[in-house]
Amino acid sequence: MNILMITGSAHKKGTSSYLADAFAKGAKEAGHAVCRFDAAYKNVHPCIGCDSCQKNGQICVFKDDMQELNPELLKAEVVVFVSPIYYYDINAQIKAVIDRFYANNSLLKGADKKAVLMLTYADETEEAAEGAVASYKGMLKYLEWENVGIVSAKACYVLEDVVNSEYPKQAYKLGKSL
Ligand SMILES: Cc1cc2nc3c(=O)[nH]c(=O)nc-3n(C[C@H](O)[C@H](O)[C@H](O)COP(=O)(O)O)c2cc1C
Repeated sequence: MNILMITGSAHKKGTSSYLADAFAKGAKEAGHAVCRFDAAYKNVHPCIGCDSCQKNGQICVFKDDMQELNPELLKAEVVVFVSPIYYYDINAQIKAVIDRFYANNSLLKGADKKAVLMLTYADETEEAAEGAVASYKGMLKYLEWENVGIVSAKACYVLEDVVNSEYPKQAYKLGKSL
């Protein structure tokens, strides 16, 4: 399967990147192709809702790194969203990418895709991730994609927290199980 992983964090050696690596390891071992798009290191302009894409055959007014992502997004059978929690939600870098899905809405909605969500955050209760999980589930319901797993890594403020937790194993197993 073609797996597209979209990450949000700017921390290359951070908690969410560690989970992304574990997931990718499992998925590659299972024979899948994994394409990773690190949104924090890409040029992705926020959607301005001009609707030009809806009138001009999915062509966005912004010529940026979404041009690199879009073919991968369209061909992916599984899309993996990986983000740290910032103020009770996914971070802005990954949200900007998701909002730009709008240009390809008609192709993405109802497409036969599965999705995974992986979150890391400092709080010791899962309440901190409720907003992000609700947005993800709402988005999937709208797009008619199937959720195949959520890794919600609480009490993971810095790298060593996640390294010493059960979450990398969860992410690895999830990648391998696809
Ligand atoms: C701007 C900002 C906002 C944050 N907001 C939250 C929050 O609302 N809840 C929480 O538990 N942790 C919060 N954190 C902590 C991060 O989620 C946590 O450190 C996470 O492991 C960072 O992931 P990364 O290493 O992949 O970047 C915040 C961190 C930053 C920098």
